[in-house]
Amino acid sequence: MDRTVNIISKNFKKYDIEPIDEYISLGGFDALKKAFDLGPQGIIDELKLSGLKGRGGAAYPTGKKWEQAARVSGDKKIIICNADEGEPATFKDRYLLQYDPYKVIEGMAIAAITFNANEGYIYIREEYRHLHDKFRKAVQLAKENGFLGENILDTGFNFDITVFSGAGAYVCGESTALIESMEGKSGRPRLKLNRTSEKGLYQLPTLANNVETLAAVTSILYAGGEEYAKYGTPSSKGTKLISLCGNINKPGAYEVPFGVTLREIIYDIGGGVKDGKTLKFLQLGGASGAIVPASLLDLKYCYEELKDNGIDIGSGAILVADETNRVVDFLKSVQDFFLHESCGKCTPCREGNRQITKVLNRFVSGDASVEDLQTIEKFSNIMKYASFCGLGKTAPTALLSAIEHFPIEFYQQIHKVRKTS
Ligand SMILES: Cc1cc2nc3c(=O)[nH]c(=O)nc-3n(C[C@H](O)[C@H](O)[C@H](O)COP(=O)(O)O)c2cc1C
Ligand code: SF4
Repeated sequence: MDRTVNIISKNFKKYDIEPIDEYISLGGFDALKKAFDLGPQGIIDELKLSGLKGRGGAAYPTGKKWEQAARVSGDKKIIICNADEGEPATFKDRYLLQYDPYKVIEGMAIAAITFNANEGYIYIREEYRHLHDKFRKAVQLAKENGFLGENILDTGFNFDITVFSGAGAYVCGESTALIESMEGKSGRPRLKLNRTSEKGLYQLPTLANNVETLAAVTSILYAGGEEYAKYGTPSSKGTKLISLCGNINKPGAYEVPFGVTLREIIYDIGGGVKDGKTLKFLQLGGASGAIVPASLLDLKYCYEELKDNGIDIGSGAILVADETNRVVDFLKSVQDFFLHESCGKCTPCREGNRQITKVLNRFVSGDASVEDLQTIEKFSNIMKYASFCGLGKTAPTALLSAIEHFPIEFYQQIHKVRKTS
């Protein structure tokens, strides 16, 4: 039985941005109207009821984040929608921008009411350049129809959105690096002396959220926090957009209730492994996520059960690898990504990635030593604990989980060249 749901994805492929009436006829902007009636505390209460956690990867409770942010005073405040979506194997935010941009705009406006901000930016990754103009057009139409701009819905509230293009760096998805790059500096994470909600863009109070989080806010206000919380498990309430890809019959972005098993996702929703092959492993949460062996397929897809097994949901990517994939080759592609994307600001990540790449190359070519295995484990743990930002902290996750679940694949590559020559 296919357990997909359509709460956040309800409007996918159901309307064109022009005329805007098509979106309005689907209940569009009702959540925004409700938000004005509820006011900041009412919105926060609904979000708390819903149990929504940030969908950008860190899973911080959105109601709590917005409540803390709403307490920050300031005449000029900023909303940022993080649409950098640079995590490999992740494309669910693209679906939202492509198939329901008004829901994201509505979510940004609701965030603005809560935070009392008049200025908003959406930072869309450069690779989604085909969506930049579409989103700009949607903003313009929302403005012309009184849902953005000055005196929104005759409430006296002003809020406008500007589309900002990223320049292709993965680390710029990290909110402080994103802000640095928006300020025209090189995109490197900031030392977090203050919360972004206190000192963000141009040192102004800034509330930054992921695309899916903001879309979920719209859906939650539309249906009610309690209604949303009926989906999912006691501590992972609601639904999640997943990006299913790799050796799978039906790749795509799907919305699932938390609590569905990985097996149900792969076989019932994704139609099973491609070409009738056997599943070897999954990678959850993109390149920065853990390798999950087929033996764990009956785990529930929810924050708590996965966490108990050392796995994070992260971006919501689920990459499927069949029996023909060698673990060390897969890890090499992950490692090449991090070597390329490390911004170089801190030593553990800059040098750790270089050294791990060198050692991993020896495993790929079958010329590794026993010490090499200890070395990559040691370097990985240093990176995990000593890196400056999440990129370096999570870069070795795949490697460490692969050593745990597939140790044989590493041992097979030790002195293989010499043994066979
Ligand atoms: C290296 C790195 C890349 C990130 N990339 C993204 C991204 O592309 N999109 C995103 O929303 N969050 C990304 N994040 C997480 C953000 O820093 C931040 O936690 C998130 O945007 C907050 O929004 P949320 O509370 O709605 O999840 C990234 C974090 C790190 C460390
Ligand atoms: S962990 Fe990596 S990406 Fe993050 S600051 Fe250090 S070098 Fe840059």
